[in-house]
Amino acid sequence: MKIAIISGSHRYHSQSLKVAQHIEMTLKDGICDETWLYSLEGNPLPLWDEGVWDGEQQWLDILNPLREQLVSADALVIITPEWHGQVPAGLKNFFLLFGKNELAHKPALIVSVSAGDGGSYPVAELRMSSYKNSRLCYIPEQVIIRHVESVLNAKETDNDSRSDPYIRERLQWSLTILAQYATALQKVRDSGVTETEKFGNGM
Ligand SMILES: Cc1cc2nc3c(=O)[nH]c(=O)nc-3n(C[C@H](O)[C@H](O)[C@H](O)COP(=O)(O)O)c2cc1C
Repeated sequence: MKIAIISGSHRYHSQSLKVAQHIEMTLKDGICDETWLYSLEGNPLPLWDEGVWDGEQQWLDILNPLREQLVSADALVIITPEWHGQVPAGLKNFFLLFGKNELAHKPALIVSVSAGDGGSYPVAELRMSSYKNSRLCYIPEQVIIRHVESVLNAKETDNDSRSDPYIRERLQWSLTILAQYATALQKVRDSGVTETEKFGNGM
């Protein structure tokens, strides 16, 4: 089983990437065989334009290696910081560039990140607006990591002694559930019922 981890912050040295790396380590510790971590740090993806649909070579060069990774993934973890109460624009752009061909009927766990008490808005935004045409299946579990700077740090003294163990355990549990959904939804894709020429997009 392969699980793709998308770190949605554009910032260098972001907390989202710290969380993503912890998640990758947790997944590799007995939950799945393979991971692929892709970070939006430094905005590696240009903003969508018509050339994507026209199959322009410059877009194919950027997108094809990433498509390959996503197509071979059985499940995803989408990590999003809360930026002004929203999902960062680069992550929304990710959902313009990749859709049903890579993501349809695959389970995804949302992990949101806030330096303070935030983190709910990007969960609501992703659940409302990023799955319709991609048919990505967000599982009911989600993890909101508040006061992120005080958890999941390599140096134990930088961690809050109450919330750090809780977040580690909660992530481990949620990722284990995600892996079970990955096994279950493989059957849905293999059944062939999701293949359709007629209903290309969600309603
Ligand atoms: C442009 C910008 C806007 C932000 N707005 C919010 C916000 O609305 N709510 C919040 O809880 N944190 C906000 N933050 C702080 C983030 O929670 C903080 O940067 C945290 O480390 C997660 O983002 P990161 O993964 O980019 O590090 C904002 C940060 C940036 C860079």
